[in-house]
Amino acid sequence: MNNILILYSTTDGHTLTISKRIANCLKTNSNISVTPLINCTKDDLKNNDVIIIGASIRYGKHNPKVKEFIENNLMILENKKNAFFTVNVVARKENKNQPETNPYLIKFLKSITWKPDIVDVFAGRLDYPSLNFWDKQIIRLIMYITKGPIDLKKTYEFTDWNRVESFAQKILNSSN
Ligand SMILES: Cc1cc2nc3c(=O)[nH]c(=O)nc-3n(C[C@H](O)[C@H](O)[C@H](O)COP(=O)(O)O)c2cc1C
Repeated sequence: MNNILILYSTTDGHTLTISKRIANCLKTNSNISVTPLINCTKDDLKNNDVIIIGASIRYGKHNPKVKEFIENNLMILENKKNAFFTVNVVARKENKNQPETNPYLIKFLKSITWKPDIVDVFAGRLDYPSLNFWDKQIIRLIMYITKGPIDLKKTYEFTDWNRVESFAQKILNSSN
């Protein structure tokens, strides 16, 4: 029986939803905790066998606390089975939806020493009605330029849930 810790960094909650789906796939053989990354202590890390970190992109970047956390806990992370995933809407595009082709993931992995055992990228969710005035306008403009959906009354979910479940399965296979 493994203890698995899923740490998430989210602004609007979608990375938490993905984390819960991963947890659901892993729960048969393991004790799972899903926790905000910012609340995680060194003891939490030490008490788990598998650490999964998930973080979303906002205006081109993960929350800087994600990188800080990884750097501060590098040794412990490297001694555990581990995985990382990023969530962004650029990944809705076929030519940007792989770890080798998603610009945010490539850049982020280059900026840290940690080499996660398993890495993936998931397309996120755009909930226009919930955004404030300026975010709505800016994101709509970006979506217009990148040929994405622009109806401000709608919510668009781009996540491929089969892909999320395959990621969980890879973790399951590697931790048995
Ligand atoms: C204000 C804002 C800025 C965003 N910036 C980017 C971006 O630069 N690149 C991108 O691919 N996605 C961007 N996104 C899309 C988010 O990554 C996507 O909505 C994701 O599902 C958010 O996950 P979260 O709810 O866990 O924060 C942005 C979304 C918002 C609302």
